[in-house]
Amino acid sequence: MRCALTWFAARVALPACAAILILLPLAAGAAEGFRLAVPAALGDSGLLDYILPRFSLKTRTSVARVAPGDAAEVTFTAGGPGQPVFTGPDATWHMRVRNPEHLGAARFAEWLTSEIGQRTVASYEVDGSTPFTPPRADAKAEAAITFEGDARAGRKLSVEHCGRCHVVRQDRRFGDIGSTPSFFVLRSLSNWHERFQTFYARNPHPAFTQIDGVTDPFPVDRPSPIIPVELSIEDMQALLAYVSTLQPADLGAPLQHQ
Ligand code: HEC
Repeated sequence: MRCALTWFAARVALPACAAILILLPLAAGAAEGFRLAVPAALGDSGLLDYILPRFSLKTRTSVARVAPGDAAEVTFTAGGPGQPVFTGPDATWHMRVRNPEHLGAARFAEWLTSEIGQRTVASYEVDGSTPFTPPRADAKAEAAITFEGDARAGRKLSVEHCGRCHVVRQDRRFGDIGSTPSFFVLRSLSNWHERFQTFYARNPHPAFTQIDGVTDPFPVDRPSPIIPVELSIEDMQALLAYVSTLQPADLGAPLQHQ
């Protein structure tokens, strides 16, 4: 998420951005290894040097550590969002699985929250003391993906720009009659954030969508056939924030692992 928005901000060419976003899941799926985003404070504690080799040995899954903000299937953050997985020395650390369909990532989440994983964390010693414990009971579980944008503004923008074609509001939720997928259905897809981040590059939107500083102007010989959708990067963030608050449609998919 953050990577894509930094790219927007840096005005990296649209095709490059779209191509990389499309290729990433393929690359990730090819190997079982996954990327883990680790804040410096946690990295410096030495805990991961202790638990990751044990996890990898047991599950034959390799883990590549990346910096916070880089693309990763699993992230750790102090205080959330995500699921609290251990506490120590100064924070309760939360894990967020961004791609639960990634086998390596799912396996790691399962292992870390299992009795064995928790015992491994608790057995990590520094100078005879064990700085990490199971998560403190007061740590809040918060699984939702959140975005920095203004969800309220995003709702307004959605109604105004996207509501022409998509069902975007809870109170109209069951009024969906067209062939255009509702935001609730899109929200239920595991890669919904990728789709929304790049919607302007996905058909049918390029013909009528302009993102300030990101998209090229419409070709002179092919002006937008409808009143164009014109958004800033801030608007995009607001849209993503709004969509992240929507309750996904229940498509009868099997439950993800806990
Ligand atoms: C003129 C009609 C129209 C407008 C306006 C419109 N969309 Fe769409 N959108 C569509 C249609 C039709 C599809 C389905 C395309 C398909 O199935 O190939 C779609 C699909 C999508 C998808 C899924 C794309 C994919 O490839 O996975 C996203 C995300 C999306 N729209 C977001 C938005 C957002 C955000 C806005 C408003 C800023 C918006 N759309 C405005 C018609 C529209």
